[in-house]
Amino acid sequence: MATWDPTQYERYADLRTRPFLDLLARIPHPDPRVVLDLGCGNGIATLVAADRWPDATLVGIDSSANMLRKAAYRDTAGRVRWVEGDVATVDVGAYGTPDVILTNATLQWVPGHLDLIPRWLESLAGSGVFAMQVPGNFDAPSHRIIRETAREQPRGAELAGLLRADPVAEPRGYADVLAAAGARPDVWETTYLQLLDAAREQEHPVLEWVKGTALRPLLDVLDPDEAHAFLADLAGRLDLAYPRAAYGVPFPFRRIFAVGVVGERP
Ligand SMILES: C[S@@+](CC[C@H](N)C(=O)[O-])C[C@H]1O[C@@H](n2cnc3c(N)ncnc32)[C@H](O)[C@@H]1O
Repeated sequence: MATWDPTQYERYADLRTRPFLDLLARIPHPDPRVVLDLGCGNGIATLVAADRWPDATLVGIDSSANMLRKAAYRDTAGRVRWVEGDVATVDVGAYGTPDVILTNATLQWVPGHLDLIPRWLESLAGSGVFAMQVPGNFDAPSHRIIRETAREQPRGAELAGLLRADPVAEPRGYADVLAAAGARPDVWETTYLQLLDAAREQEHPVLEWVKGTALRPLLDVLDPDEAHAFLADLAGRLDLAYPRAAYGVPFPFRRIFAVGVVGERP
């Protein structure tokens, strides 16, 4: 499992929070008692959920102790219970019957997550909601370039093995899973034209973005010299693929959203 660097991830807190706000806006639950955030990371999104539902018990679950430390530090009022665990195996009923299960920008790291969704839906209280967002950018130029460049490094075969197959489904796949499990699906996709580094402070803005996420498994295994050579090679290719405009570096980013609402429980 990749290690996470909260500081690098937080450099883009605004761009990363916006899809979560779009997801939250489609959750039709007025007053959940128990809300779980699977893969809560540094807690920024979880605390936004805590603002929306101040009376709910919130539980943030993540496998990264680094991210959880940041989350707990940020949560000065102690509004959320932060728990270390793997979302694939965690007992989602352990904190009371959940009314809302959220998972934002995490399931792309969880192979086989479509098989977990029915179990999560089953655990919900009546009129409960499951809501997820995942990047749908596996075939974007940035990711194709990462794969190509990694394969061409001296340890290319090993690096290629660390780059995941894409576990993210198309929107229809999530709608099918939600409906088959008895939930009402609300599924959509949005491509945000993200503008990176409008202030012209970074040499390689797209590289800085992917260092916070997609490159984590590779940077975990490369020694400093290998990482330096790899990043230098990658930087040039990403700069060519994403040229700077006068107002910043346009970096399109597709995201897939799926919300499932269950009915009343007997
Ligand atoms: C891109 S971050 C998203 C964090 C947060 N949800 C947000 O919206 O900013 C992905 C998070 O998923 C966590 N993660 C990845 N696989 C996980 C797993 N199997 N179980 C628990 N957490 C996982 C990582 O530790 C990381 O904090």
